[in-house]
Order: sequence, then C-alpha cells, then structure tokens
Amino acid sequence: MKELEYYEEIKDWDFSMFEIESESLTKWDLYEILKKLSNKDSKILDLGTGGGEKVIERYPYCAEILGTDFSEGMIETANKNLEKSGRSNITFRLMDNLEMNVPDNYFDIVVARNTVTDPKQIYKCLKPGGYLLIHGVDKDDCWGLKMIFGKGQGYTDSRPISIIDYENVINAGFKDVELVPLHEREYFKNKYLFKSFLKKVPIIDSFSEIEGDNKDYFSEELDDELLEKYIEDNTYDGKIRLLRRYYGITAKK
Ligand SMILES: C[S@@+](CC[C@H](N)C(=O)[O-])C[C@H]1O[C@@H](n2cnc3c(N)ncnc32)[C@H](O)[C@@H]1O
Repeated sequence: MKELEYYEEIKDWDFSMFEIESESLTKWDLYEILKKLSNKDSKILDLGTGGGEKVIERYPYCAEILGTDFSEGMIETANKNLEKSGRSNITFRLMDNLEMNVPDNYFDIVVARNTVTDPKQIYKCLKPGGYLLIHGVDKDDCWGLKMIFGKGQGYTDSRPISIIDYENVINAGFKDVELVPLHEREYFKNKYLFKSFLKKVPIIDSFSEIEGDNKDYFSEELDDELLEKYIEDNTYDGKIRLLRRYYGITAKK
C-alpha cells in the first residue's frame, strides 16, 4: 500500500484507543520548545499535520498557524476537529511537503512531526532568524521487534534517517543545527491492544511504492508466532514493552 493511500485510510483513526502508556527517557520536548520560541505574533507552519489534533490541542495561541497535509482525508478531519475546537487563527489546507506552495520569508517557525521534509523548501519559506523543528522516527525504532521479523521501517536502510535529515538540514543552509536522539518506552496493557496497534502502523510492514501494489491494509498477515515470541521476551509487570527511538532536530535560518 502506498503512503498516501494509507493515510487516506486511517484519517479518522484515534490512536488513544490503544491506551499506550509512554515513558520518556530523554528530555527534548517539541511542544515545550515551540512554546519557548513563539510569541503572540508568531506565524507557524505545521507540515504533514494529519488530523490536526496536535496543532489544535498543543500549539501555542499566536497570530497564525497553517497546517498542511497531502491527504485530502486528513485535511477534512483536521477541519472538522478545528470546527469543534473553537480555536481561531488556524487554517488547514492541502499541500505536498515536497512541492511546497507557501510564500517566501514568511513563517517564524516550521514544524514537521513524523513526516517527510525538504529542508531547502522549508528554508525558503522561513523568515531570517526563523526556526525549523523536526521530530522523526529513527531507523532503530522498535529494533528488537524488527529483528525478530527480519524486516520493518528503515530496517535495511544503510544509514539512519536522523543522520540523513541532519545533513539535509545543514546542506539547506541552516545554522545552529542540533540533532537529539529521543528514547521512549511504550507499554501496552495486553496482547490484543499490542497486536491491533501493530496491524495499524507501518512499523513491521512498510509502505510499498510499487505501482499497482494494492496490498490490502497493512499486516493482516503478521506472523503470530513471531509476535508471541516478542511478547514473551518483552513483558514487564504484565505489560508489553516497545522501545521507541525518535529524534529531534532544531535549526535556525
Ligand atoms: C505519522 S503522521 C503525523 C501527523 C502529525 N504531524 C502528528 O505528529 O501527529 C504523517 C502525516 O504526514 C502526511 N504526509 C506524508 N507524506 C507527506 C507529503 N509528502 N506531503 C504532505 N504530507 C505528507 C501524512 O498524510 C500524515 O498525515
């Protein structure tokens, strides 16, 4: 399944249904940084905004927030969520992160959380002195699980995604570029929630870009024996643990 089709399909998903408990082992917090860097006059662009919940619930009140996504379904969901929220100064619209269509030298802050980016295009749309904040999923995310399956997102990449992103940000002309590895533990209350989660996210099965490959929803065919082995080795106080590896990047124009 291709990435766009996947996101169209999950547009109404509410991940809180998996009741995941997260424990952060590192300190970098995107929302705290965003709060510190912004003020009431800030113009913020959120790339790959999804259903808009993060923007609506966690982004600071400021002059303007534009959330964009290449999935029409996601933008519809974001607009519905916006209507319910009563927040103002927020707009959601369709845009591909790789073909950005926004004014030059316009935004104070650009945020990209768990989505693809083209740092050169981001650089253009930021004001001088503006900030880029990236949060991403790294190659070694859920590594123990990917090892058991012998596959998964980024499993065969020759270099970590974080390093590639970091280099791209520097090469785009940004300064004060900082890359921070983020370590989190996630706990699932039971096997059912754990398995349902894995069937809905591109961790073990990744996106296929092969033309005409309409592999039905991810992972219907996840090998149960392998999953049981992971569960047996990674259950603590009755909860199943998944080790997440993210990364944060901050940079200035
Ligand atoms: C994992 S979700 C993250 C959503 C949100 N940023 C968050 O942190 O909850 C990834 C989002 O990026 C969007 N996306 C992926 N590739 C994109 C692209 N090339 N252009 C625009 N959006 C894209 C998807 O449609 C999806 O909504």
